[in-house]
Amino acid sequence: MTDSKIVLITGANSGIGYATTKLISSQPNYHVIMACRSEEKGLKAMEEIQGSGIKGTLSVLQLDVTSDQSIAAAVETVEKEFGRVDVFVSNAGITAYAETGSKKMSTIFATNVTGAVTSSEAFVSLLLKSARPYLIQISSGLGSFGLATDPEDQFYNSPSHVYRMSKAALNMATVQQHKRFHSQNIRVYAYCPGFVRSNLRGESEQARSGGGFAGDPMDSARGILDICEGKRDADVGRFIHANGTYPW
Ligand SMILES: NC(=O)c1ccc[n+]([C@@H]2O[C@H](COP(=O)([O-])OP(=O)(O)OC[C@H]3O[C@@H](n4cnc5c(N)ncnc54)[C@H](OP(=O)(O)O)[C@@H]3O)[C@@H](O)[C@H]2O)c1
Repeated sequence: MTDSKIVLITGANSGIGYATTKLISSQPNYHVIMACRSEEKGLKAMEEIQGSGIKGTLSVLQLDVTSDQSIAAAVETVEKEFGRVDVFVSNAGITAYAETGSKKMSTIFATNVTGAVTSSEAFVSLLLKSARPYLIQISSGLGSFGLATDPEDQFYNSPSHVYRMSKAALNMATVQQHKRFHSQNIRVYAYCPGFVRSNLRGESEQARSGGGFAGDPMDSARGILDICEGKRDADVGRFIHANGTYPW
């Protein structure tokens, strides 16, 4: 068992998960488990990050958050290799622009809600082995009822209805996880990473950059590192972003 802080990040091969892996592993005394649905993509991303001269350590874990079998195998592997998880970053998420109707809704909910909840809860037994466990659900300001009903909010008219619904459901799941796990010392958060460059909206430059308006995912990563380092302990159980909080 390592003395380093063990951070498991789902969807670590791309976008915010990749940036967070890079930033956290640039610090000494951290081991990041890059949990990726494609082991091949995970290994390629790990190689790139290792090439950037990190001070921490990395490993790749196959994990598809929509597969019970994959989740169970991943828990078994981490238990054998590390014996605990200190921080679980539940980051994997999708938009499914290509889908329509009920297929779109079930596809998005399967990853963003069911996948995020079942995978994170499968690792609770290993979080409980940590002296200072954190569970971070990567949500979105688009899931906030407070912001969605505020005509002054910049994303009031955002058309991503199903995505918004999925992140609102994830927020409720996070509130419930906080209430259920707080007495066991697991610090639970919903975290909005901000509107940043990634493959979430598609792989063209236009989509990745959000029409040129998307920010840097390293800023999202800094907010996650702050949580890992205890700098957001006063906000436990809340819906936070890198510089403050959002209304649920
Ligand atoms: N970017 C933004 O502006 C923004 C804003 C607010 C919230 N978010 C949230 O941030 C999180 C990360 O998204 P991103 O923007 O970094 O997008 P991204 O670049 O598309 O990364 C998403 C990651 O999730 C993985 N993933 C998707 N389905 C999965 C599954 N079933 N099992 C395991 N991994 C899976 C993807 O793997 P593959 O590479 O194999 O597809 C990829 O690694 C999401 O929860 C998203 O909703 C993003």
